[in-house]
Amino acid sequence: MILGIETSCDETAAGIVDADGRLHANVVASQANIHAEYGGVVPEVASRQHIRDIEAVVDAALKDAGCGWNDLDAVAATNGPGLAGSLLVGVNFAKGAALASGKRFVAVNHLVGHVMAAFIKQPAGTAAGEVSADSSRDGIGAGRSKLMALIVSGGHTELVVTEGSVRDGFEFKLVGETRDDAAGEAFDKAARTLGLGYPGGPAIQKAAEGATYTGTFKLPRAWLDGASEFSFSGLKTAVIQMARRHGVDGAVLGPGGEAERRYKVAAIAYEFQQSVVDVLVTKTLRAASDHGCEAVALVGGVAANGPLRTRLVEESPLPVLVPPISLCTDNGAMIAMAGLLRLREPGESEFDAEVIPSLRIG
Ligand code: KG4
Ligand code: ZN
Repeated sequence: MILGIETSCDETAAGIVDADGRLHANVVASQANIHAEYGGVVPEVASRQHIRDIEAVVDAALKDAGCGWNDLDAVAATNGPGLAGSLLVGVNFAKGAALASGKRFVAVNHLVGHVMAAFIKQPAGTAAGEVSADSSRDGIGAGRSKLMALIVSGGHTELVVTEGSVRDGFEFKLVGETRDDAAGEAFDKAARTLGLGYPGGPAIQKAAEGATYTGTFKLPRAWLDGASEFSFSGLKTAVIQMARRHGVDGAVLGPGGEAERRYKVAAIAYEFQQSVVDVLVTKTLRAASDHGCEAVALVGGVAANGPLRTRLVEESPLPVLVPPISLCTDNGAMIAMAGLLRLREPGESEFDAEVIPSLRIG
């Protein structure tokens, strides 16, 4: 049994998986409501809140898994990338707990954690009603396989060739990333422009569901000549300009009043989401084919987006691994899963591991 602790941004999280990668607990205390007031994460507020929440979150995870410290074999924590002050809370808590209980401590890369979420085995029935693929269904990861992982979150938009198996571990090769904003960051900024609040991803998705006629609201797609790189800053600027042109950027309401504002916000949210999904799906599938991958994995907070999940699954000729939403947004179970793979490598506790805010994958 491995405990994974995650505090890289604004979620205090702890999860537990066993040696088969089966999920036993996944507890998340989100600070979204606290940061909503500021329209984004305030680092100093985040680290202080992690300190308040971490002990209760870890206790709750142990309780859910029905185990005590003695039943654990190891403790893993995210040591990067992320906010330095936030990372320090999880890493130091995990080191202290491991030292006190005589367990091995391993430091985990948050991005590797996101990818490993695709291999966590869910108790039967938990993913019901979601467009969601279980890696065990296609046997991917059991034997050696080669996947194209799209990591899309608040800070990252990366295409990573992931090769190996759950038993022997994986190697990662970064083959594409964003030149400017991350996809989640674009969702958050577009939502702020449209007055939809924080976090922006779920807010944009919800607003877009109410869209009716959308034809006049056209936004660009950054294809970048087919490169497997991404760019979202131009789209962000286009949303700001469009919102201003239509008087829905917080300006005084036009003659159409609130009903017209809502209609326009929904249409722009819809078109924005379409633009992001078009680019992500097309580029991911092309990269998977170019690199001879046999499957695709969609992970990270933005992988919680309904239209993105549906479109990728519908359009992919390859099997798609999509974790349930609770394992896409930041969580401790993915850190425990990545920790499990690290534990299979021989080694000692990494008590000297430091936090690395700019840690990369591959
Ligand atoms: O992985 P994550 O929880 O934290 C980071 O590592 O960044 O990702 C958070 C990001 C935020 O930008 C949030 O707006 C976005 O994921 N997100 C979504 C959805 N749910 C969360 N984006 C689009 N649609 C969603 N349903
Ligand atoms: Zn994340």
